[in-house]
Amino acid sequence: MKLLLREEEVQRKVRQLARKISRDLAGKEVLLVGVLKGAFIFMADLARRMRSPVKMDFVRLASYGSGTVSSGRVKITKDLETSLKGKEVLIVEDIIDTGVTLQYLFRRLKARKPRSLRTVALLDKPSRRKVRFQPDYVGFTIEDLFVVGYGLDCNEEFRNLPGIYVLK
Ligand code: PRP
Repeated sequence: MKLLLREEEVQRKVRQLARKISRDLAGKEVLLVGVLKGAFIFMADLARRMRSPVKMDFVRLASYGSGTVSSGRVKITKDLETSLKGKEVLIVEDIIDTGVTLQYLFRRLKARKPRSLRTVALLDKPSRRKVRFQPDYVGFTIEDLFVVGYGLDCNEEFRNLPGIYVLK
């Protein structure tokens, strides 16, 4: 494993993102929607740095068809427990790769009539994009590398690492 982003770099970025998002929301309450499992650590840190009042909920998605996300077919396997109607909502993702997951979730949640719907991804791999989708906020733009740590796994391992590593 090779270190890509040190814990301090990640934390600094999370603080910057929280500051920018809070500023854009101008003190309004926001519902953070974490996409399980990968986003849970990022969301926990982001939530604690936000200056706006925060509520939290989670969704879990699964790809089906050929068994890979790139098949482009996604479904919600654990839905939100909160209504989005009239709320300021921020979808929190650890990583955007093909864009299929976020695009699907964005469309599904938009239909529930939130007041606003924004997206944040800590990591972005634009070279892997299969659909046109760009998050409103991105932490780090990275090459097409297999990364683990800070919520990201390889067969469920390494999610608890405080930094982000490239698996070789
Ligand atoms: C990862 C990540 C995103 C998705 C991004 O989840 O957390 O949800 O893949 O890929 P895409 O842009 O190509 O759709 P993963 O399926 O690894 O599940 P996990 O978060 O439970 O580890």
